[in-house]
Amino acid sequence: MRKEYSCIVEDKIMLNAETAFITISCPEIASSAVPGQFVNISCSRFLKRPFGIASADIEKGTFKIGVKVVGKGTAEIASFEKGQKVDVLGPLGNGFSIRDDCEYIIVAGGTGVFPVNFAHEYMASKGIPHKVVEGFRNKEQIVLSSDDFILTTDAGDAGIKGNCCDGLETIRDSISSGTEVLCVGPLPMMKAVGKWATDNGLKCYVSMEQRMACGIGICLVCICKIKAEAEGEEFTHKRCCKDGPVFPYEEVIW
Ligand SMILES: Cc1cc2nc3c(=O)[nH]c(=O)nc-3n(C[C@H](O)[C@H](O)[C@H](O)COP(=O)(O)OP(=O)(O)OC[C@H]3O[C@@H](n4cnc5c(N)ncnc54)[C@H](O)[C@@H]3O)c2cc1C
Ligand code: FES
Repeated sequence: MRKEYSCIVEDKIMLNAETAFITISCPEIASSAVPGQFVNISCSRFLKRPFGIASADIEKGTFKIGVKVVGKGTAEIASFEKGQKVDVLGPLGNGFSIRDDCEYIIVAGGTGVFPVNFAHEYMASKGIPHKVVEGFRNKEQIVLSSDDFILTTDAGDAGIKGNCCDGLETIRDSISSGTEVLCVGPLPMMKAVGKWATDNGLKCYVSMEQRMACGIGICLVCICKIKAEAEGEEFTHKRCCKDGPVFPYEEVIW
């Protein structure tokens, strides 16, 4: 079933010069979205653009997205103002399976902070124990951080100097067995975090951010290679938008 809604922008704030945080009114998405899912947002350009859901408020009937400007589509969406109409397709994809009886480490790099923010809010609202590790290039790039989070910067001008794995190392000795790692960020970062988790005996799930077109499993633009279950086959192709974007780290062919 197509889940396309005509929505209104409720609010927009700029988190920094190139990143907007947009609140959109849509009770259907607010009440059904789970962390790790995304929405496709329309603009005047060909094809909607995908964004991880960064927050959802069932009572207000709103959800939020964070938009970092990297091209013409994101520039237009980041310039949306309160009251503007916008077509939204979603919630899309399979999000993280978050259990009440598990502990989590959620790790974000770059725009991965937006879906990770939703996972953090969800776990905090349910009292699920978790730690958040965030990695940014430098101080200027930091958005949606908190004093409770483990913060790293490549430049070393805020938090721990280094990347997310350096941040994870600082909590390695305090992690309970059975803790799961959820990770959203650039591919090399997710690969490194997944390896770190595996080396430390922890299950890791990653959210693949491939380029997308339809967002609903039809066009096959977003396929990634996943280890095959069938004997004799090395890999199978899966659609990030429909079969993912969340996959177990060890099933992805990197
Ligand atoms: C599931 C998913 C969730 C996403 N969540 C967020 C989010 O929460 N916040 C956010 O700011 N962005 C997010 N993105 C990325 C965002 O969709 C793209 O930045 C956007 O579509 C680019 O559109 P554009 O017209 O501005 O740029 P384009 O002109 O299309 O591209 C500009 C540059 O960005 C690169 N680019 C475009 N799309 C991607 C992509 N998917 N992965 C890597 N590089 C890309 C292009 O290669 C090019 O170099 C997400 C992408 C996916 C697939
Ligand atoms: S974007 Fe079309 S199949 Fe995934």
